[in-house]
Parts: sequence; C-alpha cells; structure tokens
Amino acid sequence: MKGIVLAGGNGTRLHPATLAINKQLLPVYDKPMIYYPISVLMLAGIDEILVISSPDYVDNYRRLLGDGSQFGISFSYAIQERPEGLAQAFLIGREFIGSDDVALILGDNLFFGAGLARTLRKARETSRGATIFAYRVDHPERYGVVTLDRSGRPLRILEKPEAPESNWAVTGLYLYDNRVLDFAAGLEPSERGELEITDINRIYLELGNLDVERLSRGHAWLDTGTHESLLEAAEFVRTIQHRQGLQIGCLEEIAFQNGFIDRDQLIARGHMFDKTEYGRFLLRIADLAPDVDDG
Ligand code: TTP
Repeated sequence: MKGIVLAGGNGTRLHPATLAINKQLLPVYDKPMIYYPISVLMLAGIDEILVISSPDYVDNYRRLLGDGSQFGISFSYAIQERPEGLAQAFLIGREFIGSDDVALILGDNLFFGAGLARTLRKARETSRGATIFAYRVDHPERYGVVTLDRSGRPLRILEKPEAPESNWAVTGLYLYDNRVLDFAAGLEPSERGELEITDINRIYLELGNLDVERLSRGHAWLDTGTHESLLEAAEFVRTIQHRQGLQIGCLEEIAFQNGFIDRDQLIARGHMFDKTEYGRFLLRIADLAPDVDDG
C-alpha cells in the first residue's frame, strides 16, 4: 500500500499566520504539523509516501523531509496547482499509486491512541474496498458525517449536513483499493467547485464495499485548522509528552520499531537534535529499545 499526505490548501482560517507559510509546516508544539500524519502512515507500515502541496511550498517539504532515507522510507513530491478538493489527490498521484492500494491522510490531522498501529494494520488486511475512520464529536456539522446501522455498517454519508443524523465524523484518513483511481477520474466538481472525497466514499458505500472503523474514546483525533484547535493540539502533545516522557509523532522512533532504520541511524539522528527533548528521546530509546511500548 502506498501513502499520500495532502498538505496544500489555503489555510484561510489561520490567517494571518499562514499568509507566508503553508499550514502543515507550522509547528504543533515541538515538530512540524506534517510529522503527525506521516507518523500515522508509517504506523500502518507504509514506506512509500507522496507529499502533495501547493506550488509555493512543495520545496519546503522537500527540504524538511528529503528523500526519506533518514527514516528508511521514500518520499516523493507533487504539486496541486489549486486546492480543488481532496479527491484530486488521486488524479495527481495516479502514477505514484500505480497498481497499488492507497492510504490518503490530510496534512492537518493528528491521531493518537492506544493500539492505533494495530487498528490500522488490521484495517489494511480486512478492507473490502475502502475503509474510513469515524470519530464521535460534539459538532458533527463541521465534517462529513456517517450514519451507521446497529451492526456498524454505513447507511449514509453527508458532507457538512445542517442537521446531522449522527455524531460520527469522518476523519481525514482513508484507505482505498486501486479502483479509487477510476472513481476519482469520473468525479464532477461539487457546487463548491471541489472533487469531493465524500463522493468517492459514497461510490464505495453504494457498492457495499465501504467499511467504517470507529475509533474508540481511547483515541484522540484533532484537526489543527483554526487558531484554537492548533493551540489545543499543541497543548495536547505537550501534556502527554511531558507526563510520559514519550513522544507523539516521532518518525525516527516508528522507523526504528518497524525495522526501517537500525540503531546506529537512530543514534545519529539523536545526536543531530541533542539540544532538544526530541533528540534526547531518540538517544534514550536507542538504549532502552525493548522497553518502549508501540501503543
Ligand atoms: P481544509 O482545512 O478544508 O482547507 P485549508 O487547509 O485550505 O484551510 P482553510 O479552510 O482554513 O482555508 O483542508 C483540509 C486539509 O486538506 C488540509 O490539510 C489542507 C488539505 N487540502 C489540500 O491539500 N488540497 C485541497 O484541495 C483541499 C480542499 C484541502
């Protein structure tokens, strides 16, 4: 399975902070926002990732992430000329995806929770076409909302409904089989002029091939698209990291646990950042590797 991080957009809700920088380059506490969605793809065992961003910023991502060899994975880069919808990722990424399955994650989504790696790997194995991840929220009208039957099968998905039928928001992580390329190619722009991911999900739903994985209350799902939610996410990361002495979204740690990099590479990265808790953490886990829980 290949992975795509969609990290374009206008970031208008974060103006003026995002007038001269792309949202996903902003820090969430101690690391760039894009580290968090990348960490989710890596936790799912994905080691080939396409980063899509706007023309002005794609080089910043190249500078930040390089070819991925420091994490034992590979990054490629592509441009989205204008933010014309999430489903455009499959038109831009068509060649990259080739004949594979694909996971798409939004660059401003942060997932955290016990067993996330297991949940993702299980979903990869059992998916019958598409898997989306739903999360219970207080204000579902801001999101795509999925209505489920008693056995957890999806009945309907609506994009930002005025009167939501359920509290299950569709999060910014989607797993698809290769048919998504053709489904995306056949989409028409919506009234707001975007190729909608909800339309893709609806196609799989109508075929009976959409699985909805509900993330339990033991998980956190935060998006970071407003000043309030960005600060909340930063506070969340800081609180957990300080309390546990562990890291959220630490790419080298996941790479090491997955066997993508060896201990020497981990230590070299730790030394690069040894003025920070991030770097000291890498050096610590190089010594204590067997004790670190993969959550
Ligand atoms: P949004 O938060 O919907 O849009 P935005 O990031 O432009 O922010 P704002 O609403 O404040 O103007 O986008 C969700 C995520 O998807 C975010 O990580 C940016 C990304 N995105 C793209 O990369 N391309 C797109 O065409 C769209 C619609 C979103």
